[in-house]
Amino acid sequence: MEDGDVDEVVAVWNAAGVSRPWNDPARDLAFARLHPHSTVLVGVTERIVATVMVGEDGHRGWVYYLAVDPERRREGFGRAMMAAAEGWLSQRGVWKLQLLIREENVAVQRFYEALGYRDVRTVCMQKVIG
Ligand SMILES: CC(C)(COP(=O)(O)OP(=O)(O)OC[C@H]1O[C@@H](n2cnc3c(N)ncnc32)[C@H](O)[C@@H]1OP(=O)(O)O)[C@@H](O)C(=O)NCCC(=O)NCCS
Repeated sequence: MEDGDVDEVVAVWNAAGVSRPWNDPARDLAFARLHPHSTVLVGVTERIVATVMVGEDGHRGWVYYLAVDPERRREGFGRAMMAAAEGWLSQRGVWKLQLLIREENVAVQRFYEALGYRDVRTVCMQKVIG
């Protein structure tokens, strides 16, 4: 994505339901684009219709904010965005990618399974430190 894309990216996040009121999207986007360890990729037709945030922490690759405009689902954009994220990580020498799914988001598990991901039954714990 480019600097001028913020509003369009946030619009896709809102339409796709990946935004949460306690996360500031502009802050999330700026921080992901600040350092070379992470970035935000966009899928573009006549406008932005898909997004994924991808990064690596020195050990594993992670993706966040995979989102496809609800009007453009089941056309392969989700698969293409994940392939782009995997490619971005592979180029940096990262060999494992993991991601978090909210418990209630059952449908998306089928999507990731279709792409070769498996549930590794891990509990994620979190603390806000800043
Ligand atoms: C999940 C999401 C990104 C998938 O995007 P998409 O562009 O519709 O996915 P694709 O068209 O690339 O689908 C690839 C394959 O995944 C599977 N799949 C996709 N959506 C699915 C669903 N709702 N239920 C079951 N399988 C699904 C299918 O096997 C599909 O292949 P097919 O269409 O040939 O059957 C999209 O539904 C989305 O934005 N969801 C809301 C946001 C979200 O939950 N993000 C992930 C947070 S962890």
